[in-house]
Amino acid sequence: MEVKFMPERIKNQYTEFPLENQIEWWKAIVHSINDGVLVIDHEGFVRLINPEYTQITGVTPNIVGKKLREYRPGAQLPEILIDRKCRVGVYRKTDKREYIVDMAPIIINDKVIGAVSVCKSLTEVHKLSLELKKKGEKLNQLKNKIDSLYQAKYTLNQIIGRNGGLKEAVYVAERVANSILPILITGESGTGKELFAQAIHNESSRKNQPFIPVNCAAIPSALLESELFGYGDGAFTNAKKGGKIGLFEMANNGTIFLDEIGDMSYDLQAKLLRVLQERKIRRVGETNERSLDVRIIAATHRDLQQLVKKTHFREDLFYRLNVISLQIPPLRERKEDISDLIYSMLRSSQLNLSIENSPNEYTISRETMNFLEEYEWPGNVRELKNVIDYASCMAEGTEIRIEHLPQRITKKHFNMYESKDSSTIQSLKEAMEETERNFIIDTLKRFGSDIEEKKKAAKSLGISLATLYNKLKRYKIDF
Ligand SMILES: Nc1ncnc2c1ncn2[C@@H]1O[C@H](COP(=O)(O)OP(=O)(O)O)[C@@H](O)[C@H]1O
Ligand SMILES: [Mg+2]
Repeated sequence: MEVKFMPERIKNQYTEFPLENQIEWWKAIVHSINDGVLVIDHEGFVRLINPEYTQITGVTPNIVGKKLREYRPGAQLPEILIDRKCRVGVYRKTDKREYIVDMAPIIINDKVIGAVSVCKSLTEVHKLSLELKKKGEKLNQLKNKIDSLYQAKYTLNQIIGRNGGLKEAVYVAERVANSILPILITGESGTGKELFAQAIHNESSRKNQPFIPVNCAAIPSALLESELFGYGDGAFTNAKKGGKIGLFEMANNGTIFLDEIGDMSYDLQAKLLRVLQERKIRRVGETNERSLDVRIIAATHRDLQQLVKKTHFREDLFYRLNVISLQIPPLRERKEDISDLIYSMLRSSQLNLSIENSPNEYTISRETMNFLEEYEWPGNVRELKNVIDYASCMAEGTEIRIEHLPQRITKKHFNMYESKDSSTIQSLKEAMEETERNFIIDTLKRFGSDIEEKKKAAKSLGISLATLYNKLKRYKIDF
């Protein structure tokens, strides 16, 4: 050992530390090592083994002072005294144990004075690798589950009504499916906005990637940002350790469907605009940005232009989103689609509900079809689907007649006939209630449905907001 350049403190240790203490010191080190260590001298006698070596190989310390070859005839370590070559990763297996060994000569002044063997247990490694395999399988299962959860179901072919008012929308959808440009879909509730979003995704080259729907109106606005963009480790109290991936990241390489975008808060709209421009997101509480390739399809039942005027929606975001816009007309404006929709629904409702003894082919009485084609369908295709599901359950035979439809929608129809045929006159109270109900609906249509708009509607009706809510509940008005 060259001591010339050592600091005083360490030099003293070497010169003043008694030799036997130094040996104890080295022994203690070897004993505290987490790998098994066995040392032989130049004649092949075992000079040292540490407890970990016993633990891993089962060889006990009473071997010390004995010739290794006598104990373990197959041992390779003594060969090293001769050939001076290291062995790395030698695999050993006994009944109960499995381990790998590295071996090396100990050389001083070019003389082999012994050899050292260092071993690692494989049982532990095995256990870990088994565990890892199990975790990997679980991860795969979860991934498959997530993939199937986030798959778009519909295709453009399944959109009924291509000969009617949807022709234009379907045509545009086909043309733009493979572009990366954002799409804005507008239309009343139940017109098929989500259906279109799914079909566009499935028509695009992203179809095997995730389709992630997000209802911006259903997630409290304080949470929406971290839901969309995720958050970093320790972003806030109660935040999950290691952070959380956001929906945008989940949609990477696929499509994110931002439903009810008109309800997104003004602040968050600015952040969304940045994502659209930069194609990067930043998790809440993190500074670094992550690049993403996500197609954005947004939808709303609101009049965004109106919201822009009222400064509830950012103009810059509106123009950015509105590059490609699909307007889905309400069902009452495409009555020519109604019969096609009904027949397609009857076919699928037999499959879906698998009603026992349900007829193969339903027919619809002329009167019923006329009624359904005349009805206004405020809930659009969604309402039509519910009515048809209900009617096919109620029909006793193969024919769906008007009395099989929900009373809610036929009430007026029957009233009309009854008052004509059997002169059943509505009581004054009923007539007043009906007028009141219709008047409230008309007013809400004029003002809108969010809280501020309802306040204004109540004011215009000359009643308090609480009274308005009571009446909405009493008349079952869903607005
Ligand atoms: N053109 C259509 N052809 C077939 N089914 C439709 C059509 N439009 C809507 N639907 C059905 O109506 C229901 C409501 O559609 P959805 O896309 O959720 O409407 P929105 O998102 O506009 O509220 C869904 O069950 C959908 O499958
Ligand atoms: Mg919807």
